[in-house]
Amino acid sequence: MIREEDRMRDIFIAGNWKMNLSCEAAMQYARDFWPPEEKGLITAVAVPFTMLESLEEGLEGSSLLVFAQNMHYEDSGAFTGEISASMLKELGTDGVILGHSERRQYFGETDEAVLLKAKKAVSSGLIPIVCVGETLEERDAGRHFERVESQVRSLFTGLDPEEAEKVTVAYEPIWAIGTGRTASSDQAQEMCAFIRKTVRDIHPGAADKVLIQYGGSVKASNIADIMSQPDIDGALVGGASLDPEGFADIVRRAAEAKGLRIKGRQGR
Ligand code: PGA
Repeated sequence: MIREEDRMRDIFIAGNWKMNLSCEAAMQYARDFWPPEEKGLITAVAVPFTMLESLEEGLEGSSLLVFAQNMHYEDSGAFTGEISASMLKELGTDGVILGHSERRQYFGETDEAVLLKAKKAVSSGLIPIVCVGETLEERDAGRHFERVESQVRSLFTGLDPEEAEKVTVAYEPIWAIGTGRTASSDQAQEMCAFIRKTVRDIHPGAADKVLIQYGGSVKASNIADIMSQPDIDGALVGGASLDPEGFADIVRRAAEAKGLRIKGRQGR
């Protein structure tokens, strides 16, 4: 466990619902999951576009932030099927996941597009969570640092220092996503420290401010171990965030692992 006075940054736990649930289920979730109101603890759920508006309403008075899972970098135009930052803001959306490995893999999202999206998100007042991570083949070939470094460099060299410190990075090894196979907390720390060092090379002033999450089969049984690492500020939780009680348990354990005592009960 890390002592609270030794913690330099906020704790940020985000759920990624991917293409799951329904508007009705989202509303029920908003009633069942009420995150603890603690200074230094940020919680969010990234949901399908269709649920953004009703969730924002259902969460009135809650500190739970609502994120989208993608957006386009242009304000408007002939981009059939896309959603812009201003459209997300119009619905009260707080942030957006960018460059998730599923988007990179199935929808051809490139580092260049991710950079443009991150800049647009920041200038629009949306909190970007930018995902990076290597494949199993890259790790087995010992090229995981090289892969992640190129993603992190391509992002941060394109950002101004003021933009850089507003970005959250999620390190998600692709081999750990949805597989039940989690990176060990040492492997996760090693890469998150490497990401911070890479950011420091580019923007020395931003490196200690950037929040870095780990993602990939995070669950209640492994979150405390992951969060006990100094360069890991939070988690991006996929499958295990779909159940409100399970997600609440993860948030509580994550906070406690960073020395934050949750007072009182969670829930309305
Ligand atoms: P998982 O997904 O927790 O289900 O492995 C994480 C993610 O893809 O963000």
